[in-house]
Amino acid sequence: MCAAVYVLSTVTGYVLTSALLLKCPTLLHRRKRESFFSRHISHRGGAGENLENTMAAFQHAVDLGTDMLELDCHLTKDEQVVVSHDAHLRRSTGMNAYISDVTYAELPPYLCKLGVTFQRECYCEGGEDKRIPLLRDVFEAFPNTPVNIDIKVNNDTLIKKVSELVIKYDRENLTVWGNASNQIVKKCYKENPRIPVLFSFPRVLQLLGLFYTGLLPFIPLKEQFLEIPMPSIITKLKDPSRMTKSQRLLTWLADTLLMRKALFDHLTARGVQVYIWVLNDEEDFQRAFDLGATGVMTDFPTKLKDFIERNGIAKPQ
Ligand SMILES: *[C@@H]1O[C@H](CO)[C@@H](O)[C@H](O)[C@H]1NC(C)=O
Ligand SMILES: *[C@@H]1O[C@H](CO)[C@@H](O)[C@H](O)[C@H]1NC(C)=O
Ligand SMILES: *[C@@H]1O[C@H](CO)[C@@H](O)[C@H](O)[C@H]1NC(C)=O
Repeated sequence: MCAAVYVLSTVTGYVLTSALLLKCPTLLHRRKRESFFSRHISHRGGAGENLENTMAAFQHAVDLGTDMLELDCHLTKDEQVVVSHDAHLRRSTGMNAYISDVTYAELPPYLCKLGVTFQRECYCEGGEDKRIPLLRDVFEAFPNTPVNIDIKVNNDTLIKKVSELVIKYDRENLTVWGNASNQIVKKCYKENPRIPVLFSFPRVLQLLGLFYTGLLPFIPLKEQFLEIPMPSIITKLKDPSRMTKSQRLLTWLADTLLMRKALFDHLTARGVQVYIWVLNDEEDFQRAFDLGATGVMTDFPTKLKDFIERNGIAKPQ
């Protein structure tokens, strides 16, 4: 009897403390200091409106007033940090080679037309600019624009060189970097802990485990950005009639577990920004902001800008 009362009061105490700290995390953790907030994030510079990851795309997004450029990095054979998505050049340029096997001077231009990964049956026709840029070009052209860098290969030289560029261009407070791989994020953090990192995929799973057991409010976090997909958009990318019942169930489950306002509110109160990718429809923009996401990554920066203006979505203070 006595033991039961003891267990009950301990459990109640834990649940109440966890609930209180979930709502008011700054009672336990110092809020991380954000040097920028991003509502409007241009995915690969806005892959639906210009050729992905080109200077023309970045210029267009910055001219529109985007809060952040999202881009991907690789290393060429002569160890130049270039901005491009795939490790292999076939899809984007038609050349049968890996970026790491050609020098910067040998890199081919992009094809005239590229598929938009997160928009079904959509191709983007490019303008004049088909060049694969250097990361340095982006830093020089947009010295004040925050950049989200996806480190696409687990290569120590790449990580070191990106950090050197970030330092050289005085951008430690304008950068977030990482990858879905936890190994890469750990290396990034070790290389330069002053550059904020995002949650790797294994860390997202851990985060959910902590959240659903009520432990999250007690645990310190090194990451400053949660960047996650909205699983429900899979049904738009695939033909829903061709998804099996179990695929649909998994999608629903992932969406239900991941898209939690209580989780997003807790993280943002701790100074961890929440970005949802890659959304191209107004109903999804609306859902992300309703859930308390800090920002949205889109292939269509003009569309997201119109939406944000029309709905008066202001930046948090
Ligand atoms: C990193 O990339 C460079 C250039 O592509 C290559 O020479 C080097 O072997 C790579 N290092 C590792 C550890 O993969
Ligand atoms: C993370 O890095 C791996 C290589 O280690 C790469 O294949 C993958 O595309 C990257 N993923 C993301 C989401 O950047
Ligand atoms: C970045 O922000 C921190 C915290 O405010 C500040 O101490 C530091 O000087 C800034 N670094 C740069 C390079 O501006």
